[in-house]
Amino acid sequence: MNAKKIKKIVVLATGGTIAGQASDPAKSENYTAGQLGVGELLQGMAVDGLELVTEQVAQIDSKDMSFAIWQNLLGRVAHWVVQEHVQGVVITHGTDTLEETAYFLQTVLQPAKPVALTCAMLPANAPDSDGPGNLKDALAWVQRADAKGVVVVCASQVHAGHAVQKSHSHQRNPFTSQDKVMHPEHLHVPSVAKVLACQQWPRVELLLNHAGADGRHVRTLMAHDAPQGWVAAGTGNGTLHHALEAALLDAQKQGAYVLRASRCAQGGVQSREADVLPHAGALTAVQARVALLLHLIAQPSPQIQS
Ligand code: SIN
Repeated sequence: MNAKKIKKIVVLATGGTIAGQASDPAKSENYTAGQLGVGELLQGMAVDGLELVTEQVAQIDSKDMSFAIWQNLLGRVAHWVVQEHVQGVVITHGTDTLEETAYFLQTVLQPAKPVALTCAMLPANAPDSDGPGNLKDALAWVQRADAKGVVVVCASQVHAGHAVQKSHSHQRNPFTSQDKVMHPEHLHVPSVAKVLACQQWPRVELLLNHAGADGRHVRTLMAHDAPQGWVAAGTGNGTLHHALEAALLDAQKQGAYVLRASRCAQGGVQSREADVLPHAGALTAVQARVALLLHLIAQPSPQIQS
């Protein structure tokens, strides 16, 4: 057989608990994420008839995810998915910001080949670590003939990358997905090239409506260090305390893009006649923030300066 024709699966590693090490394996809650390299994660995991290509894209706890790493990851996924002999891409990632990375990659790339993010809730040296099983499942998923697009493979489940959210802080299966999540039509999506070329990402602040929300930090930031965008995780159907709403309306008048989501885990925001600020539909607040970052990158020029 011509070696060049062997199908490949590309494994891109970014760190996370799946690559974590506990100082004492018997006390697996005390660990540091992002310690093992991609080669160590894959030890003993051959895939019949396929070549495994590996790259260590980052080595972080995903709470520290950055735009630079997103760009690097996007560039590597975009590079590999168009190679004829690549069957699919697996990305190892921490669970904490995995939903943001999954939404980002799916929205910008919409890959025709499978791209499976996978993770773990227990570090690699815990006796009952879930990482190896999740990684095997992800490698199996990208070999399926019907698999395409960005998904999250965890705890024997597969979630669509644009709909997944981490909804539990410590159980083995921390993810759920929402139904009918659509990217809002009024938010534009930049090309892959534009995202990769972006040298200064817009600033989009995320805030929560709550009892006593007075909008003071919105007014303070708009006066001194104005971000280009605000996402407000409103109460219930995306409602905002009248004082916060007034501050956000003033921010909008100053040129900031304001978007409402819901702080509820499920359901998003549905349109009402009395709406005065746009909303992000079914997107969660963190997805809405990714969508707004992308929308602002897609604009011909920055919308606001402080
Ligand atoms: C991380 O997100 O990198 C740490 C937590 C995890 O992977 O579960």
